[in-house]
Amino acid sequence: MGKFSPRAVAGALKKRPLPAENAFLNTESVVIRITSIRETVRRREKHGTDTPEELHETFESRNSMRSDIRRFIRKIPKAELHIHLEGSLEPELMFAIAERNGVELPYHSVAEVRRAYRFTSLQSFLDIYYEGMHVLLQERDFHDMTAAYLARAHADTVRHAELFFDPQAHTERGIPLETVIGGIHSARVEMENRTGMSTRLIPCFLRHLSADSAMASLEDILRFRDLITGVGLDSSEVGNPPAKFTAVFNRARAEGLHVVAHAGEEGPPEYIRQAMDLLGSERIDHGVRCIGDPELVERLKNGQIPLTVCHLSNVRLRVFDTMADHNLKRLLDLGLRVTVNSDDPAYFGGYLTENYLAAQEALNLEPDDILTLARNSFLAAFLAPEEKGRYLEELDRFVSLFPHTQRGKRQ
Ligand code: ADE
Ligand code: ZN
Repeated sequence: MGKFSPRAVAGALKKRPLPAENAFLNTESVVIRITSIRETVRRREKHGTDTPEELHETFESRNSMRSDIRRFIRKIPKAELHIHLEGSLEPELMFAIAERNGVELPYHSVAEVRRAYRFTSLQSFLDIYYEGMHVLLQERDFHDMTAAYLARAHADTVRHAELFFDPQAHTERGIPLETVIGGIHSARVEMENRTGMSTRLIPCFLRHLSADSAMASLEDILRFRDLITGVGLDSSEVGNPPAKFTAVFNRARAEGLHVVAHAGEEGPPEYIRQAMDLLGSERIDHGVRCIGDPELVERLKNGQIPLTVCHLSNVRLRVFDTMADHNLKRLLDLGLRVTVNSDDPAYFGGYLTENYLAAQEALNLEPDDILTLARNSFLAAFLAPEEKGRYLEELDRFVSLFPHTQRGKRQ
C-alpha cells in the first residue's frame, strides 16, 4: 500500500491528530488530493481520455492541490544560503531609489525593465545586474533593499538567511564600504529584533577582477570583521578559475572566516575541485555541473559538501534548457547535500517558495524531498551547533504534523 493511499493516510492521521492551531496545514486534503490526481492520471493512462467532467474535476483539484502544496512549502521552516542582496533589487524599488537619488535609468518603466530580463548566459545577466545596482548610492538605499528582501524571506518562513553582497561593485563606483555595510547591517538588526530571524553576511569577490583587487577588498572588509561570517567568490566564472584567488582565500581563512565559492554553474567540474582544494570552500554555490564527473560526485557525497542550488536561476541563464531537465532531484537521490536557493530573485522570477514549488512541479518532488531540502538548508548553514539544533527541532515539530513524511524524520 503506497504512502499516499487513503487507508495508509487515514490510519496515520488517526494515530496523530492535527493540533487545531495547525489546521492551516490541512494534511489530509493535500494527501487525498494527491491520491485522487494520481488515480485519475493512472486511469487516463489505462483507458485513454477522460470525460469532460473528469477533466474539469482534475483541473479543479490540480489547482487546489497546488495551493495546498504552496502553503506547505511556504510554511516549512527553512534557511536561504545563496542570495545576492543586489539581485533582490526589484524594478519598482530600483525606480524609487533612482528617483530619490536623481539617477537616470536606461528604462522608462518597470515593464520595460522586466522585458530586458531575457538572458542567454550568465554574462548577459551580469551586465544588466551590475547596471541595475548603479542606483545604490546612500546607506538608506542598501538598507531599503535589504529590508525588502528580508521581509519577503520572512513571509516564506525563512528562519535563517546568509546574505551575499558584492563590495567591489560598489567601492569601484566610489561608494565607501561603510555606506554599504551600514545600510545592510541596520536592516538585519531591525529584522532580527522584530522576528527572531537570524542572518549572516558573506561579501563576495568579483572573479572577473584581479586577485590584487580581491586582496585589497578583503583588507577593506576586515575593518568590519565582527559583522562578517565568511567570504565568497562570484561573477563571470568561465576563464576565472578559483585558482586565481588562492592567496586571497588563504588570508581569509587565516582570519577565521568561512569560505564559499560559486563553481560548476557554467564552469567545469575542475573548478569545483579547485574551490575545495585551493580555496577551502566549505559549500559550493551551484555546483550542478559536478554531474559530469562521477568521482567528484562521490567526493561531494562522502564529504556531504553542501551544494547551494538555484534552479530558477539555472533555467533563466540557460544552464539547463527547462526545469524538467534540471538535475536537482538526481543530485538529491544520489545522496548529495542539496539545498534550494533563489540567487537573484528579482531577476529570475521567484523567491524561495517559488523555487521550491518550481522544482516540486517539474521534478515531481515528494513531501519527503521538500523536508530533506529544508533540513539540508539548516545542516549546511554557518550556525553554532545549538542554533542549528534549535532550527532542526522546529523543523521536527513541523514534520511531526506529517506522519506520511517518514524520510524527512529519519535524516
Ligand atoms: N552574481 C550574482 N548572481 C550570480 C550568479 N548566479 N553567478 C555568478 N555571480 C553572480
Ligand atoms: Zn549566485
